[in-house]
Amino acid sequence: MNAIYLDHAATTPLAPEAYAAMQPWLQEQYGNPASDHAYGRRAKQAVERARAQVAALLGATAEEILFTSGATESNNLAIKGALEFRGLEDAHLVTARTEHKCVLDSVRYLESRGLRVTWLKPDASGVIPAEAVLAALTPATAMVSLMWVNNELGSVNPVQQLAPLLRERGVLFHVDAVQAAGKLPINLAETPIDLLSVSAHKIYGPKGVGALFVRKRPRARLSPQMHGGGHEQGMRSGTLATHQIVGMGEAFRLAGERQTADAALYAALRDRLWARLSALPRVLRNGSAEGAPHILNVSFAGVEGEALRAMLPALMVSSGSACSSATREPSYVLRALGRDDALANASLRFSLGRANSEAEIDQAAAQVIEAVLWLREINGEPVGEGAAAVPGDNVYDYPPAIWQHFSSAGEHAGCFPAGTPGLLSLRAENRAAASTLGLQLRLGEDGRVEEARFQALGCPVGIAVGSWLARQTLGQTPAALRALDVRQLRVALEIPEDKLHCALMGEDLLRQIPTGP
Ligand SMILES: Cc1ncc(COP(=O)(O)O)c(C=O)c1O
Repeated sequence: MNAIYLDHAATTPLAPEAYAAMQPWLQEQYGNPASDHAYGRRAKQAVERARAQVAALLGATAEEILFTSGATESNNLAIKGALEFRGLEDAHLVTARTEHKCVLDSVRYLESRGLRVTWLKPDASGVIPAEAVLAALTPATAMVSLMWVNNELGSVNPVQQLAPLLRERGVLFHVDAVQAAGKLPINLAETPIDLLSVSAHKIYGPKGVGALFVRKRPRARLSPQMHGGGHEQGMRSGTLATHQIVGMGEAFRLAGERQTADAALYAALRDRLWARLSALPRVLRNGSAEGAPHILNVSFAGVEGEALRAMLPALMVSSGSACSSATREPSYVLRALGRDDALANASLRFSLGRANSEAEIDQAAAQVIEAVLWLREINGEPVGEGAAAVPGDNVYDYPPAIWQHFSSAGEHAGCFPAGTPGLLSLRAENRAAASTLGLQLRLGEDGRVEEARFQALGCPVGIAVGSWLARQTLGQTPAALRALDVRQLRVALEIPEDKLHCALMGEDLLRQIPTGP
C-alpha cells in the first residue's frame, strides 16, 4: 500500500531548490559568517541574502529578521525576551489556551515568576475573537501573544484587525505565524505587529532553523535568551548555521513565488476531502471552512482514536491525542473547543502539501471511511454495506496475539438480534480510557455458551480482548467464565503493562455474570 503523506503542518519535505542551494555551504564553503576573511565574508553574504529572502515573504526589512533554531526558540525569545526586558513586576499578558506548546510553556514559566496572564478561550470554530482580546486588556498589559493560524485546526485569528488596535493602546503584539507563512499573505510593512515567529521546515525548508521578526520602528526591545558572542544584533548568540539559513531563504523565496498557486491547490484538496468525509454520518469538522487552506481537522464519533490510526497504516496524518496507554492526553486544542475526551481522541488532522493529488485525497478518504465503518461495526453499530475493511500492517508493533485477534475481530463482533432467547448480556467500561466492552452469550439448553458476540469501543488491545473472550466462552458454563483469572488473559494476549486496563475491563465484564441460576 502506498503511503499518503497528509501531515504537512507537522513538517514538509525539503524543496529540491532549497536542497540544491544548501549543498555548497555544507562542504566547500565552510567559512564562519562572523570571520573577517574571504571565506567568512562569502558566508556572511549568503546569510544576508537569505535574510532578505525571509524578510521579503513577510513584508519586513532584512535588519528586522533574526535567525534562530526554529519557531520554538523564536517564540521563547519573543515572549521571555520582551517581558524580561520590560520587567515582570505588575506585568500582564494576554494569550490563548489554543497556542502552540512552546508559547504555553514560555508563558507558564513567566507566570511562575509573577507574570499575570489572561488565558482566552476560542469560539466554536477555534478562533480567538478580537473583542475577547480587547476586553482582556488592562493598563498593565504588556503583551498580547496570539498565533495567526492554529496548527491543529487551521483557524485564523484576527491578527490583522488587532494589530493597529494594540499599537494604539501601546501593547506589544507577538504573533506565531508558523502556519500562516507561505499560505496567507503577510505584510508587516502594513500590519503593525511587533514580533513574529516563523519556521523553515513548515514551508519546504530544512528543520532546525527559524526566524524572529523584531520590529525596528518603533523598536521592540528584547533581553537575549542565549548569551555569547553577540551574534544577531546581540539578541541571539551562536555561530550562524549558513547551510540551514541559506535553505530557509530559498524556501521562503519559493513560498513567495508559489503562494497563490499553493493556497489554491490546498483549498481545493481540503474541500474535496471534506466533501467525501462528511458523507459519513456523525463526523464533525473542528475549525471552519474559513480556515487556512492547508488544514482539515475531523472528529469521528463512535470509534476510538488509537484503533482508527492502527487501521490506517499507510496514511501519514496527525491525531487528536498523544496517547499511549490508559492515561490518554486528548488534544488541549480540541478540548478547548468543547470536544469531549473520546471525540478529541478520535480526531484526525489532515494537512496538505504541494505534491498531494486528487487521487491521493480520494484514496485517503476511502481508507478513512472504511476504517470508521469497520470500527463502528465492531462496536455493534449496524452500518450496512461498506464495512469490508480489515486492519492492514501492524506498523505500531502490537504483540502478535493482539494483532491477530484485532485483525479477526469481525468474526465475532456485533450483536444478536433483539429478543434472541437465552441471551446473557454483559457490559464494562473504563472511563479514563473512554473504552467500553460488551459481550453477549447465547446459552444452550445445557447451560453452556453456544454462541458469543462482542462489541468494543476501544484501542486494538481492547478490541482484541473482546475478540479473545468471545472465542474463549464457547462451550463454557457461566460459572467457569466467572472464575477466569485476568492473568490468563494477559498471558494469552501478551498484553503489555501499559494496556493492563484492557485486560481488567475483560475481567470486570465476566464478574458481572450472575452467580445464581
Ligand atoms: C504554530 C506553531 N508554532 C510553533 C511551532 C514550533 O516550530 P519549530 O518546529 O520550528 O520549533 C510549530 C510546529 O510544531 C507550530 O505549528
